[in-house]
Amino acid sequence: MIKTILSSFTIFIVYSASFAATQHYTLAFRNDPATSVVIGWSGDNGTIHYGLADFGTNYNSYPFSHVSDRTGGAHNITRHFARLTGLNPNAIYYFVIQDDAGQTSQRFYFRTLSDDVDDPVSFISGGDTRDGFSLFGIYTENCPSGDCLEKRRDGNKLVAKIRPDFIAFTGDYVMNQITSNTQNEWTTWLNDWQLTITQDGRMFPVTFSRGNHEDMFDVHEMFDIPFDEYYSLTINGGLLRLYMLNSELNACNDIGQLNWLTNDLQLNTGTATDPCWKFATYHVPTLAIGKDGDLAQDQMDCWVPLFEQYKIRLVMESDSHSTKWTYPCQGNQSADDFEIASPEDGVVYIGEGQWGAPHRDIHYTGANAKPFVRNAGTFDNFFFIRVTKTETTIQCVKFENVNGVFSILDDELGTGLPSNAVLWNPSNGNQVVITNPIDDSSLQEYSDLTTKVYPTVIDDKVTIEFGNTVDNATIEIYNSLGKICYSKNIENAKDHTLLLEGLCKGVGLIYIKLPSDVVESHRVIIRD
Ligand SMILES: [Fe+2]
Repeated sequence: MIKTILSSFTIFIVYSASFAATQHYTLAFRNDPATSVVIGWSGDNGTIHYGLADFGTNYNSYPFSHVSDRTGGAHNITRHFARLTGLNPNAIYYFVIQDDAGQTSQRFYFRTLSDDVDDPVSFISGGDTRDGFSLFGIYTENCPSGDCLEKRRDGNKLVAKIRPDFIAFTGDYVMNQITSNTQNEWTTWLNDWQLTITQDGRMFPVTFSRGNHEDMFDVHEMFDIPFDEYYSLTINGGLLRLYMLNSELNACNDIGQLNWLTNDLQLNTGTATDPCWKFATYHVPTLAIGKDGDLAQDQMDCWVPLFEQYKIRLVMESDSHSTKWTYPCQGNQSADDFEIASPEDGVVYIGEGQWGAPHRDIHYTGANAKPFVRNAGTFDNFFFIRVTKTETTIQCVKFENVNGVFSILDDELGTGLPSNAVLWNPSNGNQVVITNPIDDSSLQEYSDLTTKVYPTVIDDKVTIEFGNTVDNATIEIYNSLGKICYSKNIENAKDHTLLLEGLCKGVGLIYIKLPSDVVESHRVIIRD
């Protein structure tokens, strides 16, 4: 009798799990992380019910609801996306998804980032979660445990214990080869990602980047990042400007990405709204330390000079399935290598993607070791990065003793690692610290600006005062991704009022070019 009851119960559990109406939950940042997030899921379409108080799965009790904004997907997987906007900064939101068949998901929650540059932020950076290449079921690549997916799952479990504010994922999710069952690989990846959700239902937003194993638009279709698959975000109201670059586009020849990147860096340099830090993430390393030690000449020629000119301090790479962190360095004269640079001028590069993917050897060793590489190694890991106004601290967390690692228990922004997380600990130290060299005196103070913009929270129109009558001025408005959404030339005016109905929604920059070649910028919020 007892046996019969138990087996019926088992069948019921299996049945419910297999036919969940919604599943594969993800969160993505594609706009201001203080006020918006994208909730993604697979399965039936549905409605998000959410609010600042926890009503468990009583969906009717939540004060806000939001139907999905978009249905996408790839490789025969259907994905739905609800883009929540207008959220409070640094706040916990609880939510459930009620699908069209009437089933309600478990109750999840997330924390929005801050809008205050004085608040710290902590995030995980890593990529390369794909399995080894399997030929007739025999792995031909080096997965230490025989199955790379077990290591990827260890990394995902560590995410739930570390409780980062967000994750910067640097590409290569699954194999997606001609011999692959790509639908199955993605389904497994999305299932495994659920291990990043804490036992009490906290989810962590991700900035997703594209790797070389993704087809064009895969990452857009799976997670709802912008269509171009390159974008930038301002973290904590200007503490950090984070650039997600698409290394599958040629860094020099893809004029769209290069112009956007150049322009966005210019807009965020030397103005009153300048972020304290700028970091970049992308998949293929500019100079790989692992695998074949390849140089991406296009990136060396067209991205590295921009990183150095505009003071990007940290670059996160992936792809070669090995691990490195460098000293602050710069491209050499012949643009075919890096050399050590001063902390004020150099860029720290970390990577290169070992979130479970098959291990590869370090290419440059012994007499060929690169002097600018501080340490290199081969083991499963991701990086944990904590940023304050004055300091960025980088630690490398090994996927070891995962079940024994303590869980962080609070949801505050900018917390540190669990005390017994296993860190990479080379002889020259288990962390890299970058001190912010930005000289505050070089920044324009608000009081120095000759132009005024009001209101700064815009419903439909905004007035720009030039201070004096100007012969010629250009007004440009950029959205939070750094993309231009409005441009107008003004002649012979002391002020000008713009009607912005339906344009440039969200957090943006108004950029004013005056005749004297002076450029001033104002950060604004344009409401729906
Ligand atoms: Fe790759």
